[in-house]
Amino acid sequence: MDANQPESIIGGKSFTAVAVNCAAKAGEWIKSKMGSITQLDTKYSMHDLVTEVDKGAERMIRNLIVTHFPTHSFLGEEGVEPGPEASAKALQDKSDAEYLWIVDPVDGTTNYVHGFPFFSVSIALAHRGQVIVGVVYDPSKDELFVAERGKGAYVHGRKMQVANESTLSHSLLATGFPADQHVALPANLKSVQALAPKVRNIRVAGSAALHLAYVAAGRLSGFWEYNLSSWDIAAGSLLVQEAGGRMTDITGESYHLGVRNIVASNNLIHNELIEELQAAART
Ligand code: IPD
Ligand code: CA
Ligand code: CA
Repeated sequence: MDANQPESIIGGKSFTAVAVNCAAKAGEWIKSKMGSITQLDTKYSMHDLVTEVDKGAERMIRNLIVTHFPTHSFLGEEGVEPGPEASAKALQDKSDAEYLWIVDPVDGTTNYVHGFPFFSVSIALAHRGQVIVGVVYDPSKDELFVAERGKGAYVHGRKMQVANESTLSHSLLATGFPADQHVALPANLKSVQALAPKVRNIRVAGSAALHLAYVAAGRLSGFWEYNLSSWDIAAGSLLVQEAGGRMTDITGESYHLGVRNIVASNNLIHNELIEELQAAART
């Protein structure tokens, strides 16, 4: 066996089976706690919320992963200091890991706190920096999105395929309004202003990981957002790629774990979308 090729089974448990199990268990628990949060704190800014459920879900996922794969590394949002610099550094610190699990226990905490049913558990496994398993679970709809590198992306056991719109004018896009009020939010407002008149519509539903899963499922033609962290994107990136879509940063550079300004699409509208985003950034 080639030492550079990832194993996919260790000790009888497949990586994907463990990722799915973690997402399902954590998701069920998160849903059961909805509406009964006792501790709500802010992190980086007043827009960046965290609850005891985010922390508890991450502990649950980490414990399950460590039990199955004690030699693997782990990067979870709740184990990292708040803010973009700390999250970029935390990823950098793990750059030598052979196997790295990248976890956002609740992506869409603001929605979760408000009872808006659009949030997800996002779990990725990277092998030497390349995502090989991606799982995004939406507990509200009980939808599990799963991808394995080279093996396609699935929801409810059905193979996913990105949407077939070939122009922005026929596209439904999504984006997010980031917690960073100084750079990312103003940049994104310019993009929204430029794109809104040119597309069918834009959704801002509040979970980057789930937006990416929706691009993979063909429910959105594309998605972009500024200054996301690796745990927001890693699992969804593989869903999009395995469903035939494209992942880059806003300059068109191919996706890697360090990319924070993300553009995901069905491929067909990608260049047009990037041109619009770049033109908006120049204004
Ligand atoms: C947030 C969500 C949101 C996005 C923010 C993220 P969190 O993650 O993905 O959609 O707009 O930029 O920080 O804080 O709920 O895990
Ligand atoms: Ca997140
Ligand atoms: Ca989170």
